[in-house]
Parts: sequence; structure tokens; C-alpha cells
Amino acid sequence: MVDEVATATELPGPWRSAFEDVPRGHYVPDEVFVPEPGTPRAYRTVNRSTEPGAWEALVHSNAQVVTQLAPSPFDGGPSPSSSSSAPEAVARMLVLLDPAPGARVLDLGSGTGWTAALLARFGTVVVTMESDPELAAQVRARLIGSEATVTALHGNATLGYPNAAPYDAVHVGFSVRDIPGSWIAQVRPGGRLVMPFGTLFANTGLLCLTVREDGQAADGRFRGGVRFMWERGQRPHWAQAAAGEPERMASPVDPRTVLATGASRWAVGLQVPAVTWDPVPADGDRLLRLWCTDGSWATVTVDAWNKPDGVTQCGPRNLWDEVCAAWSWWDGQGRPGRNRFGVTAGRSGSCRAWLDSPQSPLPGALEPATRTRPAAPLLSDRPNSTTRQR
Ligand SMILES: C[S@@+](CC[C@H](N)C(=O)[O-])C[C@H]1O[C@@H](n2cnc3c(N)ncnc32)[C@H](O)[C@@H]1O
Repeated sequence: MVDEVATATELPGPWRSAFEDVPRGHYVPDEVFVPEPGTPRAYRTVNRSTEPGAWEALVHSNAQVVTQLAPSPFDGGPSPSSSSSAPEAVARMLVLLDPAPGARVLDLGSGTGWTAALLARFGTVVVTMESDPELAAQVRARLIGSEATVTALHGNATLGYPNAAPYDAVHVGFSVRDIPGSWIAQVRPGGRLVMPFGTLFANTGLLCLTVREDGQAADGRFRGGVRFMWERGQRPHWAQAAAGEPERMASPVDPRTVLATGASRWAVGLQVPAVTWDPVPADGDRLLRLWCTDGSWATVTVDAWNKPDGVTQCGPRNLWDEVCAAWSWWDGQGRPGRNRFGVTAGRSGSCRAWLDSPQSPLPGALEPATRTRPAAPLLSDRPNSTTRQR
């Protein structure tokens, strides 16, 4: 596994040694979960004692290993709530964090504790935080040898841990779409924060921020993509769809063009971060639905997008109009890739996305996650809709 990671990521010698010295298998519990192929949202248990070969294969793979399931706040179905992150993603994030030996690092979302142990073996002084009390206790019990110097805490990582601040670096093991001001306040000027960062439209960014000299804010660009589970408080929730009379209209853009690439979805998402989309399962990929916090929803018929009833929208926001405007802006900018985008996060909790420099903020501001409560689209409203002329 270490060779695979070192091939995929440029792994400097000291990090390679840490990966060789700290066995992932020591940190992964005996019972793990794998998705059932062909059945969405279904998992089967792999137990180390009954299926040792399958368990070993998972632990030595370069893939994420799901270690805990919990009901999704979105639809109540089983959803991963903790995991041992994919080794390659862990390695990329640690290399990006680039702590000096002896640096003070705050590791948020301990999970199995493997990342905290790697940081400790590398020679940093680690405080790790986990919100699940059982997992936090397991991390403490698993820490061995030099990794025993890690301070493993049970607590809400969005508050950070001011008692041991200032830190030289913060490593975040879950995805966020809001960056807590406490994280900026607890890192010294010039210190670094590395975190998975996403939107409900595309949860796929890896962000690296550096705290400004005055300590009031941190800026940085995206550094490729990763896919992590959401911070527990920022997971999408179910909400009531807007009632009322939907409008029907033609789309100005083919939805397949809007959603064609990771770069287009990423750029749109930064402008409409609280808008979620997916294909309606019963219709294959012929019907898209979009929904948002305030109950607004839309559907787009993929094969008839330019017909007068190709789009249906309802609620306070016209979600498909917003998505098309966001895509047009991105198209007009020459279709920049993900790593030209960045974020500025402030001590107050402010969070602003930009293109190329903090002086060029995106047209749509990032909305706080507290307002992002997506709703169920009422597809049955379509027959009552009216048609809007463009
Ligand atoms: C993907 S796992 C982290 C994996 C970890 N890096 C490892 O090596 O095993 C994400 C973890 O973040 C934790 N988490 C999510 N939100 C949290 C919060 N607000 N405070 C503390 N922990 C949180 C989850 O419980 C989960 O265990």
C-alpha cells in the first residue's frame, strides 16, 4: 500500500517512513462496512474474525474503509459517519500541510486515529478531536509507542481547542462548506490549514489556507480534488418542498453541458453552494432535480431541455436559472479549472470564494451552511405548472 501511495503522491522520505512505521491495520476496527454492489445505500459487514482475508485486503488497499454507519439526516438510510480515509488522500493532505518537526498540529475528526498517529510519528505535537465519544475513546486506546504523545480529545471540532492554541497547522479529516472562525483564530500568522471543502452541488475540493500576518483571515487556493464525508453538523438535511404554482419554461443551456465536467460542476457549485442536484432514479438520467434550503426546487428534462416545458421551477428561488447564470459566468471566464479558485475565511466565520485572487470574488457569495437545508422536490406538481416565456 505504501508503494502505491508513494507512486500516486510524491511522498518525501520522512513521510514514507511514517507510513511504513504506523500500520493502518492497528487503527482500523475489526468490523468494517463495504457498499453492496448494485444496491444504492446498502452495506455489508466485513468482520476480521470471520473474513480475515477480506478485512486485510480492505486495510491494505488504497481505498477508504468505512468504520461506522449512522442514519442519514437526509433520508434516514445508512450513511458512513466515520472511516479510515483513503491512504492516498491522507498522504496528499499531510504533504500539503508540510509541518516542521516539532510543529503543533490540531487534527480535527480523529476517526480511527491513524492520521493523528502518522503526524505524531512524523515528529509533530498533535491534538486530535473527535465528536463521537465511542470513537474518541477507541482512539485513545489504540495509540501506541511514540504515537502515545497525541492528546486525543472528545469534542466538537468546529470549536477547535483553544486551550492548546496557537497551532502551527490544522488538518481537517471531514469536509466543510463553512469554515469556523475559531480555526483561523487558533492558528498563528503564517500557519496553514488543509481541509476537504465542498458545496452541496460538488463536494470535491481540497483547500489549503495560510493565515495572514494580522491573523484576521486566511486565504488559499484549491489543490486538486478529494471526496470526504461532511462535518456532522454540515450534512444535508431534509426539508419541506415549496408548495405553490410551479413555472415551466425552456432552458437556455443543455443540462448535459452544464454538468459535463468536474470543473463545470465545481465552478457552478461555488456560486450556488446550497443547491443540490441529482438524476431522478426512476427516470434514469432523463430527469434532473434540484433543490435547496428554502424549499425551492426545479426539474429539467434532459432530452427536452429546450422545449417550452423543459424546465419546471417552484419556490422563492429559480434554481435552474441560477445554475445557468453560474455556468454562463464560468463559460465567459474561459472555463477556469478548479485550482484557479480559492477561498478567504475570516475569524468571524466569513467565507468568500474567488477566482485567481481574493480581489476577484465570485458573483455568488458562499452561503452559510446553517441556511442549507435542502427540500424534497414535489415532482407531482408538474401538471399544475404555468409556462414562462423567455
Ligand atoms: C473520515 S473520518 C476521519 C478519518 C481519520 N483521518 C483517520 O485517519 O481515521 C471523519 C471523522 O470526523 C468526525 N467528525 C465529523 N464532524 C465532527 C465534528 N464536528 N467534531 C469532531 N469530529 C467530527 C467523524 O465522526 C469521523 O470520525
